[in-house]
Amino acid sequence: MRAAVVVAILGIGMAAGAAAAIGTAMPGVANPQRAHVNWMVKCQGCHRPDGQGTPTTAPAMAGQVARLLAVPGGREFLGQVPGVATAALPDDQLAELLNWTLQRFDPVHMPAGFQPYTTDEIRKLRETPLRIEAAAKRARLVAALEMHRRIDAARNQKGDGQ
Ligand code: HEC
Repeated sequence: MRAAVVVAILGIGMAAGAAAAIGTAMPGVANPQRAHVNWMVKCQGCHRPDGQGTPTTAPAMAGQVARLLAVPGGREFLGQVPGVATAALPDDQLAELLNWTLQRFDPVHMPAGFQPYTTDEIRKLRETPLRIEAAAKRARLVAALEMHRRIDAARNQKGDGQ
């Protein structure tokens, strides 16, 4: 009984330790706890706590948001979408939150050598937020992404690309 309690406590401690390790390992995220709270307060109403999105109104972050970093214009887009650019947060916390969002919800698609958004970059991007045109711009980027994927698939089929 006593051993079981100790094991349980150890288990919780290890899980917390692992989470903290993952948190501090995120480039561009000085304070993962603060980023998470900002996500809860400013973003999850639309994008849901687990980043799964809301069908027809807010796209999922989970398992896909970082793919946009791979298309030309994608990086800028992520800093200019209305939900990001107009969030009531100072530039440094917004940069942190965007870096956290990408790495927390879509680690698989993070490009190698990812350069985190800086406070300065976010400050400039949010000076020109997208408005009504955001949806159309997003559709163009996603189409470009699909095209890249088809080219990659064709290359792989021919066996001359990685
Ligand atoms: C009112 C609902 C709403 C809120 C709040 C919101 N978003 Fe969004 N978000 C959207 C919609 C809708 C899109 C798709 C682009 C567009 O039409 O604006 C989007 C797009 C995005 C994208 C681009 C990726 C993609 O697939 O289009 C990112 C990144 C993002 N949101 C992050 C955030 C973050 C971080 C916050 C909190 C600071 C946030 N959003 C708050 C609705 C919202």
